[in-house]
Formats: sequence, structure tokens, C-alpha cells
Amino acid sequence: MVDLSAAVFLATTDDLIIGFAQVVVGSTESRSALLNRIYIDAEWRGSGLANDLLDTVVNESAQRGVTRLELTVFERNARAIAFYKRAGFAATGSTTFAVGDDLQTDVVMEMDLEARFKRRPT
Ligand SMILES: CC(C)(COP(=O)(O)OP(=O)(O)OC[C@H]1O[C@@H](n2cnc3c(N)ncnc32)[C@H](O)[C@@H]1OP(=O)(O)O)[C@@H](O)C(=O)NCCC(=O)NCCS
Repeated sequence: MVDLSAAVFLATTDDLIIGFAQVVVGSTESRSALLNRIYIDAEWRGSGLANDLLDTVVNESAQRGVTRLELTVFERNARAIAFYKRAGFAATGSTTFAVGDDLQTDVVMEMDLEARFKRRPT
């Protein structure tokens, strides 16, 4: 049963927060969750920390009954899209949002957690 509605994961040094991720869980029936934000301090990008943080999000979400992790990402955020693809997200569609009179497009991406954990050797 999913009993979590939102969680924030922090990556820290001894005295600094250097990254965070926020997950919002949908209805119990849908068993899906939204990776609402993930952010790594600029100095730590490319270090593998984002991967470790996302792994924690994925493992914790799966343990709490989530079977599908979703996110949206600005279509021109090539670095984030490359990161998500490498981590196992697949693009499933797109959605638009208005910035003033401009229509901007986000890519919708999903990770099937059931399939991900089935593939792993026990
Ligand atoms: C998105 C984010 C968490 C990823 O963490 P990261 O440490 O930068 O990720 P990595 O370096 O491990 O992976 C980025 C990938 O993009 C590639 N890349 C780097 N710069 C790039 C660019 N300008 N264009 C396209 N790809 C790029 C890297 O080579 C790497 O791919 P590879 O491992 O296949 O070579 C981090 O960049 C970040 O915090 N960005 C700002 C906030 C943000 O955009 N959050 C996501 C909003 S949806």
C-alpha cells in the first residue's frame, strides 16, 4: 500500500546540501509517483551524485509500493533528458505550458519500476 504523499531526498556533504529530489505520490490505486524536482549543485554535476540520488529515489519509491515513476522535463533541457534516459526513463509523450504568450513544451518520461526490479538478478 502506498502511504507516502511526498518525500524530499537530500544529498549532503558534512555541512552543505548539494542536491535534492522531491517525489509526490499519486493515488493508492494508480501506484504512480511524480519525480517533481531533481537538482544537483552545479559544482557536483557530472560526478555521479545525481545517479546515486536517483537510485535512492527509485529504491525508496519501489519499497513504498510505487510501480511507475513519471516526470516532465523542458524539451530543451538536453542534459537532464540525457541523464534520465541513461537512468532508464523512456519518453512517452509531451505536454505544453504557457510562459506569457509563449507555448513551451515539456517531454513526459516514465520509468516502469516493476520491470526494472524484475530485470535485476536476485
Ligand atoms: C539534471 C541533473 C540532475 C543531472 O545531473 P548531472 O550530474 O548533470 O548528470 P550526469 O552528468 O550524470 O548526466 C548528464 C548527461 O548529459 C550529458 N550532457 C552534459 N551536458 C550536456 C549538454 N549540454 N547537452 C546534452 N547532453 C549533455 C552528459 O554527457 C551525461 O550523459 P552521459 O552520461 O550519457 O554522457 C543536473 O544536471 C541538474 O541539477 N540540472 C539543473 C536542474 C535540472 O535541470 N533538473 C531537471 C529538471 S526536470
